Amino acid sequence: MGMLDNKVGIVTGAGQGIGRAIAMSYAREGAQVVVADFNEEMGSETVRLIEAAGGVATFSFGDVSKEESVKAMVDVAVSTYGRLDIACNSAALSRGSGPIHEYERSVFDQTLEMCLTNTWLCMKYEIAAMLKTGGGAIVNISSNSSLKGQAFNTAYAAAKGGVNILTKSSAAEYGGQGIRINAVSPGVIRTPGVEKYFEEQPKIAEGLKKSAVMNRLGEPEEIAEAVSFLSSDRASFITGQILSVDGGGAVR
Ligand SMILES: NC(=O)c1ccc[n+]([C@@H]2O[C@H](COP(=O)([O-])OP(=O)(O)OC[C@H]3O[C@@H](n4cnc5c(N)ncnc54)[C@H](O)[C@@H]3O)[C@@H](O)[C@H]2O)c1
Repeated sequence: MGMLDNKVGIVTGAGQGIGRAIAMSYAREGAQVVVADFNEEMGSETVRLIEAAGGVATFSFGDVSKEESVKAMVDVAVSTYGRLDIACNSAALSRGSGPIHEYERSVFDQTLEMCLTNTWLCMKYEIAAMLKTGGGAIVNISSNSSLKGQAFNTAYAAAKGGVNILTKSSAAEYGGQGIRINAVSPGVIRTPGVEKYFEEQPKIAEGLKKSAVMNRLGEPEEIAEAVSFLSSDRASFITGQILSVDGGGAVR
C-alpha cells in the first residue's frame, strides 16, 4: 500500500531536480502522475523513469506561466485519469541576481511571472478541477530565501514570499471545501538548477553551501518525501503551513 494509492496527481517542473524527484515519489506511492515541463526531452525522460520503476505517468508539455498550457495540463489529468486529487507546483525559474539599483525592471517582472504568477495560475485550474470531485491537496514549492530574505536575490525571495502568503490565503479560502494547501520550503538542494547557479555566482555559492546546520546540501528526494506526505491523507488535518526542509538552515 502506497500513501497515494488511487490518487491522480500533477507535478510541474518535473523534468529534472526537485520536481522530477517529487513525480517519482508520487508514482512510487501509488499515484498516477502528470509530469509537466517545458523541456520536452527531460519531461519525457521522467515519464520513462517512472514507467521503468513500474509506475504510471503521462507527459504534459508547456510553459506553466501561460494560461493555455496550465489549462491543457489539468485537462490532461482529467481526460487521461478521470480527475485530479493532488498537485505539486514546483516549476520556477529565477531570471537573474544583483543589487536592486542595477536590476532591470523587466527581469524583476519575469522572475515574478516564473515563480509566483505561474503558481497562482496552476492553483486556479487545479482547484477548479478538485472542487468538481469534492477536494484534494496542493503543495507549492517555496524557498528558504522567502523566510529571512536573500541579498542580491531580491526578486526571487519576494516571489517566494508571495508563494507563502498565497499558500496560507488559499488554504483559508478552500479549507471548508476539502482542499488542503501547504508549501514546502527547501534549503539548498543538489539539483541541476542549483549547480548552474553555483557556477554563475561562485561568491554566493560559498555561503549557500554552508547554510544548513547539518553541514551538507539536501537531496531532491528529501524534499519529495515531505511533499508526498503533505499530499497524502496522512496529513489530513494539516493546511496553510510552510514546512522548511533545509537541514536546519532556517534556524542557523
Ligand atoms: N534547488 C534548490 O536548492 C532550491 C532551493 C529552494 C527552492 N527551490 C525551488 O524548488 C523548485 C525546483 O528547483 P530545482 O532546483 O529542482 O530547479 P531546476 O532548475 O533544476 O528544475 C526546474 C524544472 O522546472 C522546469 N520549469 C521551469 N519553469 C517552467 C515553466 N514555466 N513551465 C514548465 N516547466 C518549467 C524546468 O524545465 C526544469 O525541468 C523551484 O520552485 C525552486 O525555486 C530549489
